[in-house]
Amino acid sequence: MKKTPKPKAKYDVCVVGGAGHVGAPLSIVLASKGCRTLIHDISRPALAALSAGRLPFLEDGGEPMLREVLAAGTLGFSPSPADIAGIPHIILTVGTPVDEFHNPVVRALTDCIDALLPYLSDDQTLILRSTVFPGVTDFLDGYLKARGKRPLIAFCPERVVQGKAIKEIQSLVQMVSGTTPAAEEAAAKLFGKIAKKIVRMKPMEAEFAKLFCNAYRYVQFAVANQFFMLADSAGLDYARIRAGLMEDYPRMRDLPGAGFAAGPCLFKDTLQLVAFSENKFNLAVSAVQVNEGMTAYIVARLREKYPLRKTTVGLLGMAFKAESDDARSSLSYKLSKQLALHAKAVLCTDPFVTGDRTLLSAAEVVRRSDVLVLCTPHAAYATLNLKGKPVLDIWNFLKK
Ligand SMILES: NC(=O)c1ccc[n+]([C@@H]2O[C@H](COP(=O)([O-])OP(=O)(O)OC[C@H]3O[C@@H](n4cnc5c(N)ncnc54)[C@H](O)[C@@H]3O)[C@@H](O)[C@H]2O)c1
Repeated sequence: MKKTPKPKAKYDVCVVGGAGHVGAPLSIVLASKGCRTLIHDISRPALAALSAGRLPFLEDGGEPMLREVLAAGTLGFSPSPADIAGIPHIILTVGTPVDEFHNPVVRALTDCIDALLPYLSDDQTLILRSTVFPGVTDFLDGYLKARGKRPLIAFCPERVVQGKAIKEIQSLVQMVSGTTPAAEEAAAKLFGKIAKKIVRMKPMEAEFAKLFCNAYRYVQFAVANQFFMLADSAGLDYARIRAGLMEDYPRMRDLPGAGFAAGPCLFKDTLQLVAFSENKFNLAVSAVQVNEGMTAYIVARLREKYPLRKTTVGLLGMAFKAESDDARSSLSYKLSKQLALHAKAVLCTDPFVTGDRTLLSAAEVVRRSDVLVLCTPHAAYATLNLKGKPVLDIWNFLKK
């Protein structure tokens, strides 16, 4: 008897966790290239915002492109795992945190896979895009096989800078790997539609490569922050020393300025490598001590200089980096908690962060504070009237 052909899926690709910081820009770019894309996410408010043409967070060029793909009808939304059934490519972009003891939480992925399991079939390609602990792609392959499922499995990590994803997804080289040549090929074909260039690796190489990128940046920031603390404790200005040593000296062009190195990726991805090394990646452990120690250093300097019990301290910027609304793992909050033990009051402001009812306007924080700390160098602070109040500016932003 002749086999009835399978009906063609309504979508070419489904992005699971597609309403998040990594998933949403990827979905929008895929849809803009004509790939019929379904966003599946458990956050109904984020799905509602996206389907109304609004991004739940700041992303350069994201909203105009979102509205274009909505008008073109190439982007759809679903809160239901059942809707992944029959879609040829499933891309996972859910969060992959470390727990309170700094161990990678692989359950974040297996819980997600468990929900998708009844609707997964062997003719689909499952592409892992979340940043994972080395070996997790092969682990997931085994996890699915043990449950009777044999989709193709690929790992294609995201390396964009948050906030510039729309541009960088299309301009950066995409690392592609698969547990089989067929999986690698299927993923390369899909990412070939959006990325400038593809580089092929084995899954564990690509997993290490992504973690190396983040850990390297994190260690670089730690070097700069350590230099800052050394110079500052000697009564010297690190920014001046840095400017001098970089002048027409190409070998030092990568030396960062001082600042808070935080956010949802660099810290936890460095810790994933520490966990993999059985805690022997001492350079990374030292980097964590330095970068996370910046807040304690600031508290100590403020305590030396001001009678903190009688001093109101204002924190300018609560997002983890400039021009972002993302306060996840922001050191501004760590500083605020540490200062609360010593200062008369701690007042916080940020032009972009939403959902924190304790935040005040910048003008009110400046007016009510005795001393200010520039935590996040948002451009708006360059022209803020600081009313002559003293500012601790580790970024050297206001002088610039
Ligand atoms: N943020 C970045 O700039 C960045 C860059 C590169 C890589 N990464 C990696 O990408 C991954 C995601 O990070 P993010 O910042 O986009 O996180 P996020 O929290 O912004 O997004 C995750 C999304 O997944 C959804 N979700 C969670 N569980 C789900 C489930 N079971 N089914 C469907 N949806 C689910 C959430 O509602 C959320 O919208 C992490 O592994 C991270 O390390 C992030």
